[in-house]
Parts: sequence; C-alpha cells; structure tokens
Amino acid sequence: MTTHARIIGVGSYLPERILTNTDLEAMVDTSDEWIVTRTGIRERRVVAEGEATSHLSVRAAERALADAGIAASEIDLVVLGTSSPDMIFPATACLVQEKLGMTCPAYDVNAACSGFVFALHAGVAAIESGRATRVLVIGADALTRHIDFTDRATCVLFGDGAGAVVLEAGGEPGVLGIVLGSDGSGAGLLRIPAGGSARPVVPEGVGDASRYVQMNGNEVFRFAVKAIPAATLEALAASGHTVDDLAWLVPHQANQRILNTVEQRLGIPSERVFSHVATTGNTSAASIPLALDDLYTSGRIASGDLIALVGFGAGLTWGAAVVRWTKPRPTEEN
Ligand code: COA
Repeated sequence: MTTHARIIGVGSYLPERILTNTDLEAMVDTSDEWIVTRTGIRERRVVAEGEATSHLSVRAAERALADAGIAASEIDLVVLGTSSPDMIFPATACLVQEKLGMTCPAYDVNAACSGFVFALHAGVAAIESGRATRVLVIGADALTRHIDFTDRATCVLFGDGAGAVVLEAGGEPGVLGIVLGSDGSGAGLLRIPAGGSARPVVPEGVGDASRYVQMNGNEVFRFAVKAIPAATLEALAASGHTVDDLAWLVPHQANQRILNTVEQRLGIPSERVFSHVATTGNTSAASIPLALDDLYTSGRIASGDLIALVGFGAGLTWGAAVVRWTKPRPTEEN
C-alpha cells in the first residue's frame, strides 16, 4: 500500500510588536498611501529584543502539536525552512528540537520565501519513503533583523512570524502533488550579499548596505507573477486537478498587487485567493503556514477542500503543493 502524508495539525505565531505604515512614515520618506497602493500592506509584526527565529518557531510548533493532539516526543523529524536562522550554525531546527524536549533529527532548509514549501517537500518525501511517520514542518523568519530601516524600498515590505504543520503517514492523501523549482541565474535579484563566507562581516563593514536585504523590486515582481501561476498549474496537473477544483489558493503573502495579477492570470475569483498581507507584510518562509492557520482557525476550510500552497522567493526559488484538507473545522470538533 502506498504511504501518503496528511496534515494533522497546524499552528502559527506572530510577535506582539506592531509596526504600522504611520510608524514607517516617521522613519523614512514614505507614506501610508504609497505603501497601501503599491503593496496592500498596512502593518507588520517585528520580533522583540532577545527574541529570534527559534522562539517564534517554538510557539508555532507548540500550537501545531496541540492542534494535532500529539506530544513532541511522537515527532520523528523536524524540518525548518528559514533564511534568518538564529545563527549560521547550529541549525535553528536543533534549537527548536531542544526547546521542545525532542530527540529526533532536525535540520534547516534555506529556500528564502519558498522555504515552507521546500521544507514540506522534505517532510512529505520522508513520509512517503517510509523513513518517518510524523514530521514537524516549520516555516519561520525574522527578516526585520536583516532590513536596513533607512531603505524605503525594502523596509516597508517585510515582517516577522512563524507557522508550522504536523504531517502524519497514512493510507489516504493528504498532500497530493508537490513541485519545486530553482533558478540560480536570478540569485542577484534578491539577496543579503554579506554575512556569509563570500563577504564575512568585519568590524569596518558594520553599517555597509551589503549586510541588508537588497532587491530589484521590478524584476522580482515580474518573476512572481509568472512563477505563482506556473507552479500552481504544474502541481494541479501532477495531482490530476484544475484551478476550478480549488477551494483556496494560498499564495506566499508578499504583495497584494502580485496576488491580484495572479488571480487574473489563473482565472480564479479573488474570493478563493487567500490574503492577509495587509496585517502581516511579507513574513518570508512563515507566510504560507501563517495564512493556512488563519484560514483554518477562522473556519474557512472544510474537510474535503482542495487547496494549493504556493511560494516564491530568493534563489530564485518557487514551489507549490496541492493538498486535500482532511481536518474538520475547529468548531466542528467541539
Ligand atoms: N515610499 C515611497 N516611495 C517609494 C518607496 C516607498 N516605500 N519605495 C520606492 N519608492 C519610490 C521609488 O524611489 C520610485 O521613485 P522615482 O520614480 O522617483 O524613482 C517610485 O517609488 C517607484 O518605484 P518602483 O520601484 O518603480 O515602484 P513599484 O511600483 O515597482 O513598487 C515594489 C515597488 C517593491 C512595491 C514592487 O516592485 C514589488 O512589490 N516588487 C516585488 C517585491 C517582493 O515581493 N519581494 C519579495 C519577494 S519574496
């Protein structure tokens, strides 16, 4: 019998501090009107002093485990998608594993804003191959730690957060089709040039713009509006479905204008394209599981619904997963 992976728990966490567009008006030459018109973002969350990606991840993971109704000790693999780890090493997944009192293998995946879909792919592969029975998949980022808050082109876009799902092996799918893609020829379009082995941060480099997120916004926009529809259609085809079968498209929450263009290109009504980018900003690898948890906890997905989770980001990278939702609405469980 073929083994499939099914989502049995979902959880997320947003840090408490809210940074509004009005707050940003006091920091750089921008306006609420410009940000809302160009991105749809009104506010985003920012990690507290002393808080890092692992802390956000632990909160999201605890909620996903509670939702799944299982103990941390029942997990046999942790895969964490992030591009803002607590440290270059050890992996943030190891810090999470220790904080949750687990003993299973744990590792990070870096696919930037596509990190959750890449981590999900690893979790699904581990289950389908029989190497794991329950996998904790986390997407988490604290990119505001890598933003130059004097650069108006990037500082208005990003926020922090974490989301997680618990996958379990079973006879029924689950995750039906999952596809990934990468194109390193676009590596220069979105990156943090310094801080790695190519350009280590040295004391005299402090304050250098290359330590921060750098982006060619127009090119990334063009890439996104091609990559999301293409990945969605590829994952749908792999699972034998079409756009009309989708109850929800859950895209990476980067920019409302990108989502509007994707709706037109896929011919999907906006009521079926999830967006809460107005209140989160771009939370990178956290964005898809945060969106999924919002849909789930607000009772907007029903058991049997077909959903597509679609990410894109630096690398360049992209990925999509078509999922048959098998959990009842939270209210139906009570
Ligand atoms: N406030 C006010 N003005 C700003 C601004 C800000 N925060 N940021 C840029 N501008 C200015 C620019 O300097 C430029 O001024 P100029 O015409 O005098 O040179 C003007 O606004 C237009 O800039 P442009 O970059 O052409 O704007 P845009 O309409 O392309 O929107 C983005 C910029 C970043 C919102 C858009 O390109 C985008 O969303 N790209 C995708 C980004 C993304 O999703 N990245 C993450 C992927 S995972």
